[in-house]
Amino acid sequence: MLATALDSKVSYADHIQPLMEISCTPCHWPEKGKKKLLNTYATTVENIDEIIYRVKLPSDSTEFMPYKSKRLPLSATQIQLLVNWRDQGMAR
Ligand code: HEC
Repeated sequence: MLATALDSKVSYADHIQPLMEISCTPCHWPEKGKKKLLNTYATTVENIDEIIYRVKLPSDSTEFMPYKSKRLPLSATQIQLLVNWRDQGMAR
């Protein structure tokens, strides 16, 4: 599914939100919400450069996300989806 997603237009609703929900909960989601919320289109757009920067870091970096590897690191395909989404103008 993700591999074919790379060939088409990436959208927040179809690709980015599900990915962020799997990898960035509960810390950046309202149930806990102690960290900067990244649960909406607007907050994801606002923070996209920082998001991409952090998920691409080596997993032993203190700034790496998901924080302390409490979730699986993003795959190369997932990171590419984030980059393509940004480059394509961040469709909803
Ligand atoms: C286990 C909890 C946890 C998970 C899961 C997690 N984070 Fe974080 N995140 C944190 C903490 C704690 C900080 C604050 C420390 C820091 O800035 O490094 C943070 C900070 C950030 C920041 C900087 C926010 C700012 O203050 O400007 C970004 C961006 C971020 N995380 C993105 C993500 C993304 C994207 C994911 C999913 C791929 C993710 N995080 C998963 C705990 C988490």
